[in-house]
Amino acid sequence: MSEKLLKFPDKFLWGTATASYQIEGAWDEDGKGESIWDNFSHTPGKIYGEDTGDVACDHYHRYGEDVKNMKRLGLKAYRFSISWPRVIPEGKGKINKSGLDFYDRLVDELLKADIEPFVTLYHWDLPQALQERGGWKNRDTVGYFADYTALIAHKLKDRVYHWITHNEPWVTSFAGHAFGIHAPGIMDFSTALQVSHHLLLSHGRAVEVLKDLGNERTKIGITLNLHPAYPASQKKEDINAAKRYDGYLNRWFLSPVFKGAYPSDIWEYYQDKTPQILPGDMSVISRKLDFLGVNYYSRHIVKADPKEKILKLSFSKPEEAEYTDMEWEIYPQGIYDILKRVQNEYSPPAIYITENGAAFRDKVDKEGKVKDGQRISYLKEHFSFAHKAIEEGIKLKGYFVWSLMDNFEWAHGYSKRFGLIYIDYSTQKRILKESAHWYRKTIENNGIGG
Ligand code: FCB
Repeated sequence: MSEKLLKFPDKFLWGTATASYQIEGAWDEDGKGESIWDNFSHTPGKIYGEDTGDVACDHYHRYGEDVKNMKRLGLKAYRFSISWPRVIPEGKGKINKSGLDFYDRLVDELLKADIEPFVTLYHWDLPQALQERGGWKNRDTVGYFADYTALIAHKLKDRVYHWITHNEPWVTSFAGHAFGIHAPGIMDFSTALQVSHHLLLSHGRAVEVLKDLGNERTKIGITLNLHPAYPASQKKEDINAAKRYDGYLNRWFLSPVFKGAYPSDIWEYYQDKTPQILPGDMSVISRKLDFLGVNYYSRHIVKADPKEKILKLSFSKPEEAEYTDMEWEIYPQGIYDILKRVQNEYSPPAIYITENGAAFRDKVDKEGKVKDGQRISYLKEHFSFAHKAIEEGIKLKGYFVWSLMDNFEWAHGYSKRFGLIYIDYSTQKRILKESAHWYRKTIENNGIGG
């Protein structure tokens, strides 16, 4: 990349993102109920190293210090999620005031530091009590989610204007209900599809609840994990496989939300696995949104593979490419490709990159520093492609780096470090990595290079 200064638009919202279960800890304190992730991580054999989120980054107690660090970075915005069982321990009914107070204090602290809060309502930690009633497979969960949304919305509406209903419903549906690698650990493809429909429906219901606040400043969106899918060759079967994969991963969520219908090609392909839909559902799911949140990490190169059971495809991994510690290919152009595609095909009124970042094997050196040059290059290249998209008219309004600090990376436990801030889990000491200092400068200049 050239060293020309790439300036971003005025008021571009530079931020970082986290999620409740990954950072808060205090898993059973002050009246919090159990979540499906507490339950899953307490089940032997589910998480690398038997790690749990019991303590995590202890953010529940250290949020003050964490907001100070955000301020040092000069963040304009911060995306975090609310733990549903912290505020409604059984998922419905009784409210836990201490849980609500925690988010109240966090929001006040952010506003004092001039940081715009972006609240995600669901980042995967369903109350275990609702799982015991069938979880997201049970349509009743949709209504409980709407009630929970109303509670949070009324509590925070005077201070929070950006709302994200769900984080990555594809992951909740498939990692949690088809592959069983995430909570609640179910392995059944049809269940995953039914869950995806209920998640989308609950998204629509939450949009209605938030719109009912009647506040013009309220902006509502959903965050999807989008991966551009490229065929491994120009052979017809590979092109079709890439299209199928795109249907399953990207269009299955984009199309209901923005067009009010599941994509017909993949719907037909699923045959008897398709979810049950009731009249009126699709118009609830497609209520008008103010923005789309895009989480981008990598691309997929897809080839036809008749041996693979459901989608009949597998992936090629280019040897010459570079990979992160997650073994995700580093492909910065993908962020540009996906932004252009989303804008052209679905025209959301605004887009935020709600997550982008990388895990590397960070180490604290003898001087106590963490030199993570690879992360700086990763971010710089992705920012450059985002900039190119903006120059070509894409309505990208902000960018949230995943993540503010190292945290509990789901099935990988603490073995993967995504943070701009290093966490020493034995002492809970926070160390700003070089990338954090670099990000501070980027925000200060509102641009890169120069
Ligand atoms: C995304 C999740 C986030 C984090 C990153 C690495 O899929 O939304 O919680 O784990 O991946």
